[in-house]
Amino acid sequence: MRLEKATLINGNLQLPGDKSISHRAALIAALASSKFEISNFSTARDCASTISCLEELGISVEKQNNKFVFPGNQKPVTPSKPLDCGNSGSTLRMLAGVLAGHDVSATLTGDESLSSRPMRRIVEPLELMGARIETTGGRAPLTIHGSGQPLPITYKLPVASAQVKSAILFAALNAKGRTTVIETSKSRDHTERLFNGFGVQVTTNADFSITLDGPARLDGGAITIPGDVSSAAYFVAAAMLLPESKLTIEDVGLNPTRAAFLSVLRAWGADVSTTSLQIERNEPFGAIDVRGGIRQTAGDEERMLDSSMIPSLIDELPLLAVVGSQIPGGIRIRDAAELRIKESDRLAATAVNLRAMGADVEEFDDGLWVYGPTRLRGAAIESFGDHRIAMAFSVAALIADGETEIAGSECVGVSFPEFYRLLESVAVR
Ligand code: S3P
Repeated sequence: MRLEKATLINGNLQLPGDKSISHRAALIAALASSKFEISNFSTARDCASTISCLEELGISVEKQNNKFVFPGNQKPVTPSKPLDCGNSGSTLRMLAGVLAGHDVSATLTGDESLSSRPMRRIVEPLELMGARIETTGGRAPLTIHGSGQPLPITYKLPVASAQVKSAILFAALNAKGRTTVIETSKSRDHTERLFNGFGVQVTTNADFSITLDGPARLDGGAITIPGDVSSAAYFVAAAMLLPESKLTIEDVGLNPTRAAFLSVLRAWGADVSTTSLQIERNEPFGAIDVRGGIRQTAGDEERMLDSSMIPSLIDELPLLAVVGSQIPGGIRIRDAAELRIKESDRLAATAVNLRAMGADVEEFDDGLWVYGPTRLRGAAIESFGDHRIAMAFSVAALIADGETEIAGSECVGVSFPEFYRLLESVAVR
């Protein structure tokens, strides 16, 4: 994709459904006791992987206009071939939890990127619950022999990971007794909210522990998935960085464990507000309004993002590094080694691409130091096949002098196939 500098962002957007909530809604729908309808399901390739894996597991699901309809009262069965999770860590890890709690065997595979990501983090707790799992050196392909009578566990997560937490909670639905998951810091809580929204009580305590008493059956019902706030982030940042911008994004998810980047951008001088708050099955959503420009804030010392904030900003960090290059005093990201094992090594990919655009960046084992403000220049950008890198640097391209070419930009379809079409619809040149 070739992109040129823009003068401003102007418009009103409505975004496809949130990827994280869509994965969970599909898994819940597959297990629900009665009919389950999902509207505004994510258009992400990752979520299509979840649906096709469920179909391979014998779950019937029908696409009716804009809805996915599951008949209810279904159970996964042993599939006839390996389940292809594509690029999707959420599909593989959360589905592993579902399978661990059922009397089935299945092999989970993925693309090259997914096959290089660590899986012991789900193997350990799911084996404690009674599943038997064979890995390929701790990675996918992974073969799971689940148990129809999983054991309840108390488990402290070694890393803050919503995918691992959710895998345990899905397996715990069939476990007789209390399962407790203890987090070190709070990761996105969609599974907890949706379980509570569909009749399975999950209690979240002040000490970051979460409990579920099993066995428990999820109710049928309907959900309209709020717009994807992680997709919204690229437009919010672009509007902030182009001073004359005026942008509204409607019906977007505003779960605090996901929308933390809004407070960070506000603290860095953005004019961003949220309105029209509503709730769908415990998930808050509403509108985001952005006026362009970076307001002067108290002091211009470097801004720090560290441990307690990282889990709720995890997918926005490459984008925040791009924004950081425009902030007086620059920004520093620490305690974010997890970024090295996402769809790409996001610390290295962000550093290399920011430098190509003329920014001054230092890379550490667990973070980045981005100096600012720096005038960016158009450059040849490598996406490393990672959707969030391609989108973060597409935003950088809108403020850079000259032309930017993003190699491998089609990877945006992993989370947001409409990204470039919508960007062109609001970017004024
Ligand atoms: C996700 C959790 C995060 C995030 C990923 C989606 C989820 O991963 O990076 O894009 O939907 O639970 P981790 O759980 O590995 O931190």
